[in-house]
Amino acid sequence: MKPLSILLLAACALLAQPPQARIKIDTDRRIGEIHPHIFGNFAEHLGRCIYGGIYEEGSPLSDEKGYRKDVMEAVRGLGVTILRWPGGNFASGYNWKDGIGPKDQRPARPDHAWGDIDSNRFGTDEFLQYCERIGVEPYICINAGLGSINEAREWVEYTNESRQTYWADLRRKNGRDKPYNVKYWSLGNEIDGPWQLGHKNAEDYTKFALEAAKAMRRADASIKLVAAGSSNFGPGADWIAWNRVVLERLRGEIDYISLHTYIGNRENNFENFLAASADIDQRIEITEGLIRAALAGRRVTRPIYIAFDEWNVWYRARGGSEFDTGATRLEEKYNFEDALAMGMFFNSFFRHAHIVKMANLAQLVNVIAPIFTNKQGLFLQPIYFPIAEYGKQKGNVALEALVESPKYKAGYRGELGYLDASVTWNAKARALYVNVLNRSASQDITTRIESVEGRLAPLAEFWQMYHEDLKAAHTFGDDRRVRPRTWKEPLKLDRNGFVYRFPKHSLTIVKLALEP
Ligand code: AHR
Repeated sequence: MKPLSILLLAACALLAQPPQARIKIDTDRRIGEIHPHIFGNFAEHLGRCIYGGIYEEGSPLSDEKGYRKDVMEAVRGLGVTILRWPGGNFASGYNWKDGIGPKDQRPARPDHAWGDIDSNRFGTDEFLQYCERIGVEPYICINAGLGSINEAREWVEYTNESRQTYWADLRRKNGRDKPYNVKYWSLGNEIDGPWQLGHKNAEDYTKFALEAAKAMRRADASIKLVAAGSSNFGPGADWIAWNRVVLERLRGEIDYISLHTYIGNRENNFENFLAASADIDQRIEITEGLIRAALAGRRVTRPIYIAFDEWNVWYRARGGSEFDTGATRLEEKYNFEDALAMGMFFNSFFRHAHIVKMANLAQLVNVIAPIFTNKQGLFLQPIYFPIAEYGKQKGNVALEALVESPKYKAGYRGELGYLDASVTWNAKARALYVNVLNRSASQDITTRIESVEGRLAPLAEFWQMYHEDLKAAHTFGDDRRVRPRTWKEPLKLDRNGFVYRFPKHSLTIVKLALEP
């Protein structure tokens, strides 16, 4: 037999086999709205995120204010909706008053979180005007480490007060008449972590946070507050106990509790790396349970949601000890498998869309970031593309889909399906988005996708990231290697479903239409 006929026979045999996996969609099984703030980001005074990243005074690439124009364009393309600032660990040693007024008179201060010196030339007004310029909601993290409650209250007065008061007048003197109306504030960063400046136990933290919330709301009653949940998943740390105390003591005052998660492929085991969805799901679900317990039996006037306000892949640029990061401070070079991890995080956020109402990728530029600059320009890292694409689903409703797929043993995490999926629905456009990560390193997976209700239109749109080399990465002048492919394809519909073969180690978004 000729090789071509053998290939044809093999293909026919494969098509005749039942699909290995199934994704069953029902538009009545609604989880919740994909809140636009799930596509948030984070800019910390750390390495080259602010200085040399979003802000570079005197650069031919910057505008008259010092904002890098090429970076702003890339940020817009990323679909960022809300931006957290000024840290991170940096926030716990930051005095916001150093960063206002004439730039040449601002003090340079040592930053004891990252061992840097901050010129303070980028401060509150520069940040808030940057947000206005790029059209995103600002989100400020107060200093709950070395800072005081009154400083936090005064910060709200500076940004939001419309009457003639000392801090509002100072804002006017600094060139800004109209209040900025900053709505989102977090009550500190990772205060449970011993690495944090001004680290506290849960008792001391909640005392501080309760009074800070009261004082800040006296300055502006309309603000939304995020409590610092635990980010300490290390041995011996009891992150559940911290979150329980925070929720019990701060209920009625806070609108969100934060979660942080960084993952890494330290063992160079692709399938285990992408099994981290089990941890993300678990952290969200346990925290949701704690929220329910804290609010049980009470009249809920202020619901509490989860703000997953730091997440990413981060393990290479960590230096010898956690914060000994040298000159390249957290400058991760991302590759194709990291891009797949972006889909994994979003799938988890979407599956919990009823409770996760904010998420912030850490971070925006250079520092563990999708955008990477030098003095001459920038390149887009592979993780940029899934973030930008998933962002198109903001405002959709997440659906609870049945996902059956071949399983694998993911170490201590037990058995997991190779397919990690989420589905969202845009009722107005009658469009379904099926987001599928195939985390098998070696197997394509034939999958039947079916809709319980409504007829599928016969043409589908595909967006896919696939690369033979899991470690393929980008650099300056070469950032087109790991990019998505998009195409339209007629579907071979059988009743109300069709079969698609998801390539090994790939991330695919299938956009389907339901006929009216
Ligand atoms: O994003 C980098 C650092 O990670 C942040 O400063 C801190 O909050 C976290 O530990």
